[in-house]
Amino acid sequence: MRGSLACVGIQIAPSILSSDFTRLAEEVDRIRDADWAHVDVMDNHFVPNLTLGLPIVEALAKVSPIPLDCHLMITEPDRWAPGYAEAGAASVTFHAEAVQAPIRLARQLRALGARAGLAVKPDTPIEAYLELLPEFDMLLVMTVEPGFGGQPFLDACLPKVRRAREAIEASGLEVWLQVDGGVGVDTIERCAQAGADVFVAGSAVFGAEDAAARIATLRRLATHAGG
Ligand code: DX5
Ligand code: ZN
Repeated sequence: MRGSLACVGIQIAPSILSSDFTRLAEEVDRIRDADWAHVDVMDNHFVPNLTLGLPIVEALAKVSPIPLDCHLMITEPDRWAPGYAEAGAASVTFHAEAVQAPIRLARQLRALGARAGLAVKPDTPIEAYLELLPEFDMLLVMTVEPGFGGQPFLDACLPKVRRAREAIEASGLEVWLQVDGGVGVDTIERCAQAGADVFVAGSAVFGAEDAAARIATLRRLATHAGG
């Protein structure tokens, strides 16, 4: 589903990487109280792991009760990313380290009706990309090395979240700031305090007995910390 997204403020995007892949339709239904279903696309080149690609995203888009937020951890996003927008993803994020022509690609994604996101790995400085802010709807600051769910949160990435938030505020633009990796009940407040407003959580949500309750807890913690 490509929802209309009037909502701003704190948003929770559970990563289906930690879900049961034999029951994907039921798993996205388990997180229907969230704002987005975060879909990690890995190609075994950009990261040392292989997950899923276009056919699965296309199928998921048809059954998901919430919009898809595709995080492309792939080489050659210039070639592949538009296909994800065409497949029905409401948000498509590609990596700064892999893209050839970020402005052209972001414009293509937006022209296809998707939100355009730019992601940076933990050791990639954000500064060089801040002047591209008007071209994007979201920045993603990775808080683990991309490739796997369930890794410990890297506090060293928080100053970058803070600098990105300052730049977004200074720009006056409505660019969302997403964090991804190791985000859970013990770390989400630090992320919100640093200025993040979209929170990816894989193991924290799908590892919980009651996913809806965990989503509500994460939302409450982030809302209180961020205010
Ligand atoms: C990591 C992925 C994340 C991952 C998060 O490369 O981009 O989205 O699924 O999983 P957790 O929340 O378990 O760290
Ligand atoms: Zn991700």
